[in-house]
Amino acid sequence: MTLLQELESRLAAALSAALGEPATAAVTAAADLRFGDYQSNAAMVLAKQQKKNPRALAQEIIDKLELSGLATADIAGPGFINFRILPSAYAAHTAALIRDERLGVPATGSGKTIVVDFSAPNVAKPMHVGHIRSTIIGDSLARVARFLGYNVIADNHIGDWGTQFGMIIHGWNHFLDETALAADPIAELVRIYRKVTAIKDEPGILDACKAELVKLQAGDPENLAIWQQCIDHSKAGLQKIYDRLDVKFDYWHGESYYNDRLAPLVDEFLEKGLARESNGAVCVFSDGTLPKEEDPYMVHKEDGWTDNPAIIRKADGGFLYATTDLATIQFRIDEWKADHVWYVVGVPQQLHFRQLFNAATRWGKTGDFQHVQFGSILGEDRKLMRTRSGENVGLVEVLEEAVERAAKAIAEKNPDLQGEEAAQISEIVGIGAVKFAELSQNRMTDYVFSWDRMLALQGDTAPYLQYSHVRIRSIFRKLDTPFDATTAEIHLNEEAEIHLARLLARFGEVLPTILEDFRPNLLANYVLELARAFHSYFEACPVLKAEEPVRSSRLALCDLTSRTLKQGLSLLGIDVPERM
Ligand code: ARG
Repeated sequence: MTLLQELESRLAAALSAALGEPATAAVTAAADLRFGDYQSNAAMVLAKQQKKNPRALAQEIIDKLELSGLATADIAGPGFINFRILPSAYAAHTAALIRDERLGVPATGSGKTIVVDFSAPNVAKPMHVGHIRSTIIGDSLARVARFLGYNVIADNHIGDWGTQFGMIIHGWNHFLDETALAADPIAELVRIYRKVTAIKDEPGILDACKAELVKLQAGDPENLAIWQQCIDHSKAGLQKIYDRLDVKFDYWHGESYYNDRLAPLVDEFLEKGLARESNGAVCVFSDGTLPKEEDPYMVHKEDGWTDNPAIIRKADGGFLYATTDLATIQFRIDEWKADHVWYVVGVPQQLHFRQLFNAATRWGKTGDFQHVQFGSILGEDRKLMRTRSGENVGLVEVLEEAVERAAKAIAEKNPDLQGEEAAQISEIVGIGAVKFAELSQNRMTDYVFSWDRMLALQGDTAPYLQYSHVRIRSIFRKLDTPFDATTAEIHLNEEAEIHLARLLARFGEVLPTILEDFRPNLLANYVLELARAFHSYFEACPVLKAEEPVRSSRLALCDLTSRTLKQGLSLLGIDVPERM
């Protein structure tokens, strides 16, 4: 049990005794430590219902509170109950955390299944910086959910079907450079795609592309074979990036996976009256059950409310993104028995997902569907990030540059590191820096990408956290015999060590809150706070020079901090080097 849960259960008992009926109330971590470690506004909330004076009710509750061995409580302001955890309780809790593989994190997932749909780049288009956000945020959410005991299915819904293949096949037939394809397949596919885009207004080109697309969709073996090669090359190239990022998927059910389901789906929608024909196309319209302001199938224009349908089959018989996503949600609910489906996709697709979730629910596919949105990444000029030639910056270029810059910083800081080891550390530090810069932001803000800020050794960065971990591990390297933290008695006397214990106890309280609103930045903030608390502790409290039993107690605190830091970073997808 976390300390917060422990307080909540004792508060519930006191409330029930004070009110004469079962009652519960939330306890939260205090924002300002001067008033205590935790607080509750239970008395203020209940006073209204009970028509009592909140401070008087708070006193009644405190009189009934059984906190011995755990905390003290007092009343503040209009009726807050503030709790201060006893140092001895922190010591006992720390000792329990040291013996707990889960570091105090409750398993809240209780076997529920979550499908996390993230990354999902489009074949033959480069993965751009926007995809970084989806990949990194989605991976971290999947890791956190898995650690909390959910059954997580990470699914890469790549865009491997669709109108772009008309152009790609035309480009393949006319402009493909086999040598370039062998050397860097994704780059070559992107090149031929761009080449065709550039000439598409010349006479006959668009028609030729359309003809290739129609052939592909009709199952022409030659075009299907080209398509398959494009997919295989793209997947292999993407896999390399994911390996580098240490991002894992359970499935790659891209758009094409659902091809066979699209025609029957549209028929079913027509039969059940969920969709109807309009100008030859099949569309989903509003069912009129929602207020217009909330209805994704209505839009307000100058002349009032009008329909805003989603097309699921074009007049020419073609299917669309909405059709594939309906088939996908059906599969996830029916085959995977998903309780939750999270789509980690940028803000511009908001309407698509509102319509999708609405139509799926009307169809009887129920579950908790979430569009986990995020804003854009801006360059230091606060404009959308572009390369010098004006194109979107590719993910690979960002990673390359981050690792290069990390290598320089490491060479300056620690010239002893050489060769393979230096290269490995630069990789861990550079990629960690990119991930942390992303994850420490509120996902909805447009964040400004700054190399210097993300790679700084001091500041809110991955290198700072990785270095903190290295520094703690280096304490243990100085010991002659291996240290066993589980046998140490914990003594907390100094304010700095109590504070460190306080933060260690919060790990299990912070983690579940990340999923409430999909905010890995809460975890990023937590690990930063923990590292800062460690540095203050290490300055204020001698460890190796202390006398027993304090020395072992302090070593145990160091060990628990390094484990918690490493676990927290690992849930952000960030690795830690042994040295740096
Ligand atoms: N391929 C899409 C894009 O790059 C993202 C797909 C997101 N997932 C989904 N099920 N629609 O914009």
